[in-house]
Amino acid sequence: MKKRLFSGTAPTGVLTIGNYLGALRNWAVRQEEYDSLFSIVDMHALTVPRDGRELRQRSRDFLCLYLACGLDPEKSTLFLQSGNPAHGELAWILSCHTAMGELSRMTQYKAKAQKSGANAGLFTYPVLMAADILLYGTHLVPVGDDQKQHLELARRLAVRFNKKYGELFTLPEPLIPEKTGRIMNLKDPSSKMDKSHPERETFIALTDTPGEITRKISRAKTDSRGTFDLNDRESGIGNLVRIYSALTGLGEGTVVWEYEHRGYGPFKRDLAEILCESLRPIRERYGEIRGDESYLTELLKRGEEKARRKSEPVLTRVKEAVGLGI
Ligand code: AMP
Ligand code: TRP
Repeated sequence: MKKRLFSGTAPTGVLTIGNYLGALRNWAVRQEEYDSLFSIVDMHALTVPRDGRELRQRSRDFLCLYLACGLDPEKSTLFLQSGNPAHGELAWILSCHTAMGELSRMTQYKAKAQKSGANAGLFTYPVLMAADILLYGTHLVPVGDDQKQHLELARRLAVRFNKKYGELFTLPEPLIPEKTGRIMNLKDPSSKMDKSHPERETFIALTDTPGEITRKISRAKTDSRGTFDLNDRESGIGNLVRIYSALTGLGEGTVVWEYEHRGYGPFKRDLAEILCESLRPIRERYGEIRGDESYLTELLKRGEEKARRKSEPVLTRVKEAVGLGI
């Protein structure tokens, strides 16, 4: 039997090159080797109030981008989190085994609560995420660097549960890319590239046109000294070189060697072209499938059924263990 893999994103904002290099690209590679589930975690999106109709559309936008990035519905399970009620059920059970302090020290919660005013869903978000993962007996969770802390909670809950009730959960391992686990904001290289940032200049979206990509890269922050110091977080050049290197497979040293005497101008022009070419097939495929609503509905229905089936054994055992049901 193949090992299990689970990952997902909340359908908010627009998927970026950060999401791609930090997570999605890895998903596509691993689906050959693992029995993979890729979810559009729409229940997570409710932690910030939003329009229902828009959320439903956005979930489909994300599904199409999953497909365009190479996720294969014949090999993997692609589904909406809300399509499998087991996520909510397990989340409740896990939340009754989670200490308040474990949640209040979450970095993402602290940052978001400050910005938007917290609701209880934002607070318990990591428990729902732990449920997403543990529900399927997941071995591997490919994510970006910012999810490390959430993964640790999922692991802690698995251990805690197993100690108390016997071996119910598999201990999930994070898979975080070493170089591209944290792609930075183009305008402010000290913060992470964020798919929900109100300013589009701060990120490259997977559906950006070549014109948009070229403009954004030409305006991306570097410094006036023109050096290629990869560790200078202020200048953002390290971030751009990492993107270049990740998309071409060339080592960072080789990239620096190629451009340090020619300067930022040629470097940015080439990087923009590499981005345009790398994202072109994704943008084109997205355009081909996004209009086919009945195909997408069919796909989501199929995914939902598969996900429900795959989660049943764990949920049944957990409910039995904690004393729920007849
Ligand atoms: P989010 O954008 O928070 O929904 O994240 C979806 C997935 O992409 C998660 O696995 C994140 O860790 C990953 N991710 C998000 N932003 C970045 C980034 N700037 N660099 C690398 N990975 C990211
Ligand atoms: N919290 C993740 C993010 O913001 C999304 C997510 C929810 C997730 N459930 C998950 C990722 C389970 C991996 C596994 O990106």
